Amino acid sequence: MSGNPPVYPVVWKEDRVILIDQTRLPAEHTVVEIRRYEDMAEAIKTMIVRGAPAIGVAAGYGLYLGAREIQTHDRTAFLTQLETVAETLRQTRPTAVNLFWAIARMLNTARQTLGSVESLKTLLLETAKTIQREDLQTCEAIGDRGVEVLPATPEKLRILTHCNAGALATAGYGTALGVVRSARKRDRLERVYADETRPRLQGAKLTTWECIQEGIPVTLLTDGMAAHCMKQGMIDAVVVGADRIAANGDTANKIGTYNLAIVAQAHQVPFFVAAPLSTVDFELPNGSEIPIEERDVSEVARVGQTTICPSGVEFYNPAFDVTPAELIAAIITEYGAVSPGNLQQFQAKQVV
Ligand code: MRU
Repeated sequence: MSGNPPVYPVVWKEDRVILIDQTRLPAEHTVVEIRRYEDMAEAIKTMIVRGAPAIGVAAGYGLYLGAREIQTHDRTAFLTQLETVAETLRQTRPTAVNLFWAIARMLNTARQTLGSVESLKTLLLETAKTIQREDLQTCEAIGDRGVEVLPATPEKLRILTHCNAGALATAGYGTALGVVRSARKRDRLERVYADETRPRLQGAKLTTWECIQEGIPVTLLTDGMAAHCMKQGMIDAVVVGADRIAANGDTANKIGTYNLAIVAQAHQVPFFVAAPLSTVDFELPNGSEIPIEERDVSEVARVGQTTICPSGVEFYNPAFDVTPAELIAAIITEYGAVSPGNLQQFQAKQVV
């Protein structure tokens, strides 16, 4: 079935982090070695590592890399300096809440544990590894729970996804693509339709790459094709990932997701969000306060190195949009799929 080993975008190796350089895929499969927290912050900012859960995993290791450089043996001074490291990492990308969640979990672990600075450093590395291990298990659970709520017919489903919510965007396996992988294991997958996902083209570059690696049938669409494909009866379900989900189920995901949800509703195609509980921000009652990252306008002005518009044009480049909860059939978490309004039943299960 699959000729290639699983993809792990973040790997801890002896004393450093190895990141797959996602800015170079699919043309080149190269890695970047990270030994310092400033370099991890830069890797997150420049999207060498990207996708909410993968950013969380990377930030966990980033915090440890910063911790091990701190020279003091005084616990209070150590925790104060650790906060500076945390703040540098927090400043990288504003929307994906897994970044803030992972940093908070790491800091809480250090604050709540007594012991020497050396023992805290060891504990921080262990916690980063735990976050990574749990995310992998979580994604596999999301995949399995997701298959249970996919439409019962047809037998083999045609699933449309947006951006990349696959192994590359998580510790491995993926959220939306985790559901796809699990559907395939159960022989319920006909094909994936991948939106190209302008401006950074994560769908064209990363989702199709992951599918091709594993022999998953995949068709690439440009972002404006979804309505036409649905009208032709080509799509049975939409499954996307998430960068931050508010307590009421409003979901921030890659720009264009909201359009897709509207189009899906207009054609009675069920629209699912697949995400770990670490992506839910229970402090935000709804999506209106989710911070939306704005990225450099050159991403809109160019495709690759080619400028696609005349000079004098103005640009707008929000990286995410918020899909209202009422457009979402279910949010698929590791604890099961729920309608967005019932998400709060899982709040006590969230480990921070
Ligand atoms: O800007 P990116 O590439 O980090 O955006 C990623 C997405 O929007 C993903 O769909 C989301 O993080 C879910 S990843 C499992």
